[in-house]
Amino acid sequence: MFTSHHLRPISKNLRFLSTSRRVQHENPLGLPRRPPPPQMPRKGGPIQRRSIANVDKVLVVASGKGGVGKSTIALNLAFALALRKNEQTNAPLRVGILDLDIFGPSIPTLMALKNAGEPALTSVGSILPMINHGLPCMSMGFLIPSTIPGSDDNTDTPIVWRGLMVQKAVQQLLFDVDWSRDGQGLDILVVDMPPGTGDVPLTLGQLVNVDGSCVIVSTPQDVALSDVRKGIAMLRKVSVPITGLILNQSFYLCPGCNSHTPRYLFGKPDNFHDVARKLDTPVLGELPLVEGVSTSADGGYPYVLTNIKMVESTDGDGGLTWRSNMAQVAERVTSALWKS
Ligand SMILES: Nc1ncnc2c1ncn2[C@@H]1O[C@H](COP(=O)(O)OP(=O)(O)OP(=O)(O)O)[C@@H](O)[C@H]1O
Ligand SMILES: [Mg+2]
Repeated sequence: MFTSHHLRPISKNLRFLSTSRRVQHENPLGLPRRPPPPQMPRKGGPIQRRSIANVDKVLVVASGKGGVGKSTIALNLAFALALRKNEQTNAPLRVGILDLDIFGPSIPTLMALKNAGEPALTSVGSILPMINHGLPCMSMGFLIPSTIPGSDDNTDTPIVWRGLMVQKAVQQLLFDVDWSRDGQGLDILVVDMPPGTGDVPLTLGQLVNVDGSCVIVSTPQDVALSDVRKGIAMLRKVSVPITGLILNQSFYLCPGCNSHTPRYLFGKPDNFHDVARKLDTPVLGELPLVEGVSTSADGGYPYVLTNIKMVESTDGDGGLTWRSNMAQVAERVTSALWKS
């Protein structure tokens, strides 16, 4: 059962969680009182969606299935987008990442910000994003305390919450983070979603004006595809616009082998393309399975930023193909975002 001890006080001046059950549910992240977040719609009542302050476009990375590479793709896509220019201003795109995986946040690890301490608050009590590799990000992983006294290591701290707590935490992550960044705000906020069709996508779809798009990640296996179809159906139901699909771990190009023939370790992509056609959803790209993608993720360094000579020498054609296909996905996403 959740207790107030599962949350980290994010400012010494904060009136932190009281032990009262009512207050915990009202304010799960223990933030100071601010204007009320948008309300979950009552039965039959109108949905009150609103935009995220200081964010021009929201790009949701989702899938009905767990472990298909959503977080890895969200992170690398964010950096691939940040390497592109805003077509109107010709300035580099300003990108941020919001990790909405409450129970299993990955972004602190992928951004090498694990155990980086608590985020600071603004004078009005908004949470300031953490920054690494030049990109701001926010995650539940920055807000949960350690179970080890005197340590910042919260790796083993579980979040044990019921649905309402999750909704409130998602609302605060959506609306209480200050993305203004020197008053300029973000062009794109990339949102890394948890797996499944539960509270988080529902809360997002009901409360946020997703002025942007959503990319859906799948792997070639039938079990992944069937969950992906459910995920798409749900997101469509809550009016999140879907830009396209990404097939992850689509094939493998063996770096040390003489043969350059792709190997379909998880089955050929034919079923995936059938599903895309049936759902009338474009395929934004296929990414190969690459060892360096996984090791760089664990090391907290986006593969998109890895030196291209290193990519070639360690991962060969697979690494190079992954890099160029990811750049293509970023290009397609950018043009879809500013068309919508
Ligand atoms: N193209 C790829 N090549 C090699 N490894 C990959 C690739 N894509 C993802 N991985 C690895 O697969 C694992 C799962 O990826 P990731 O955590 O991004 O999935 P997820 O869909 O976000 O999972 P969850 O549903 O638990 O949030 C990670 O170890 C990641 O490094
Ligand atoms: Mg994830």
